[in-house]
Amino acid sequence: MSKVQQQENSSVSQQDAEYMFVAERVSKSFPGVQALNKVSLKIRPGMVHALMGENGAGKSTMMKIVAGIYIPNEGQLYFKGQPIVLKSPRDALGKGIAMIHQELNLLAYMTVAENIWIGREPRNMLGLIDHGQLFAQTHALLSKLGIDIDPEVELGSLSIANRQMVEIAKAVSFNSDLLIMDEPTSAITEKEVEHLFRIIAQLKAEGKAIIYITHKMDEVFQIADDISIFRDGHHIVTKTASEFDHNSLITAMVGRELSQVFPKEDVPIGDIALSVKNLGLKGVFNDVSFDVHYGEILGVAGLMGSGRTEVMESLFGINPAKEGEIRFDGRQLKIKSPADAIRSGMALLTEDRKKTGLFLSLSVGENMQIASLPDHCNMGFVKQSEVDELCHQMVGKLKVKTPGLDEIIENLSGGNQQKVLIARWLLNHPKVLILDEPTRGVDVGAKAEIHKLITQLAKQGVAIIMISSELPEVLGMSDRVMVMHEGKVGGILSRAEATQERILALASGM
Ligand SMILES: Nc1ncnc2c1ncn2[C@@H]1O[C@H](COP(=O)(O)OP(=O)(O)OP(=O)(O)O)[C@@H](O)[C@H]1O
Ligand SMILES: [Mg+2]
Repeated sequence: MSKVQQQENSSVSQQDAEYMFVAERVSKSFPGVQALNKVSLKIRPGMVHALMGENGAGKSTMMKIVAGIYIPNEGQLYFKGQPIVLKSPRDALGKGIAMIHQELNLLAYMTVAENIWIGREPRNMLGLIDHGQLFAQTHALLSKLGIDIDPEVELGSLSIANRQMVEIAKAVSFNSDLLIMDEPTSAITEKEVEHLFRIIAQLKAEGKAIIYITHKMDEVFQIADDISIFRDGHHIVTKTASEFDHNSLITAMVGRELSQVFPKEDVPIGDIALSVKNLGLKGVFNDVSFDVHYGEILGVAGLMGSGRTEVMESLFGINPAKEGEIRFDGRQLKIKSPADAIRSGMALLTEDRKKTGLFLSLSVGENMQIASLPDHCNMGFVKQSEVDELCHQMVGKLKVKTPGLDEIIENLSGGNQQKVLIARWLLNHPKVLILDEPTRGVDVGAKAEIHKLITQLAKQGVAIIMISSELPEVLGMSDRVMVMHEGKVGGILSRAEATQERILALASGM
């Protein structure tokens, strides 16, 4: 048999046998969307393979195929040199492929241990779950990974960051050879990111392959060995990380050069819009005082758990403060519920979009208009065409990738869901707009777009409070930066005073 024939007959070519995983010409379409178009991918063992591309490029869809969640319309997968067909996530797990999802998938009312071993719990002689053993093996797993979380607590009582760590531990617990991580750091702080990177190094040393999806540039260059770029459902290029630099990576993703990422313009600062004095909520935050002016962008920095989100949620009436006072346009205000807050002209883009933001079973259009319908009513009737027109404009402005306003929002990619939420509050014309991690999970191009819109709003006189864990975003966008530490205001810096070092020092209580 000639060499060529031999190659054709073997399951995967000689040269490809060294790969842990190979996908050949994989396609997947959904009604109205070709999510993947003949995508090929080769994953090396003992390496981190980063997958990058704009929102809706097809990254999560590809990984769901690799993890057995979606069945491709065409194409072939190979695992350790053998062709495989994956019938379900359980099937993939059994073969050694595990995935950490972009949206958390755990159950809040079960314990950490139950969440990790669900369906695989150790059983005693009577066939009942052996809780002693369950907690012991969870403890062993968590301590091997250096994660300091009690296996017996209910998951719902943990912060988002800790829930993410549990999700990571769960994926590792299957001892898989291929581990897929879809934006694992979008909800954790630098401390946990470092921790995750140590875990990844440990897995690499064991020869496991990791596919890592992220929108964060610095992360990619820190941990990726190989980088693949997707654009509009196509595989554009795969190279080793050292063959890319920041600019060539962005250009490959976006298909054009991005000029300016933070288009902060100087805007005349107006009167005080919102003034907060000695706000306190026992055990959560205390003595929080700050002002925000019309036309101003007040950045809010701090570590996760520093109380940033809680202060803003209490301002918005989700969990009202017990002490202190809030003044809006100089008048004292009692805000007991989000409805009070919205009525007085406030809007809040929440950090946890699944819990408090999106209505997953409603359409893109409905999710967008839900807060501004009263503005478009005439004698009790909604002027639907007027509303739809505005929604269409938003879809265009923010480049929301969706087949139409009628698409169920759950079907949109993560970053595009975030854009819809932003559109909701832009349509609502608030006087004070509170944004909690507005560009989390959003690609570089859309990030620039959102920053531009925030700047425009400030120009129109809206007072903006922007919580962000990304220091370049805080530094680039803010007129002033409030830094929180352990439930207190660590300091408020002017734009001129604010540097990365000073913010980090205040955030860590120095
Ligand atoms: N279950 C589904 N039903 C319909 N359309 C879908 C479904 N899942 C994904 N899509 C569409 O497929 C395209 C690719 O989505 P995917 O989630 O793979 O993007 P992504 O690259 O992961 O983006 P992001 O960076 O925003 O997470 C998008 O246009 C999305 O709306
Ligand atoms: Mg995704």
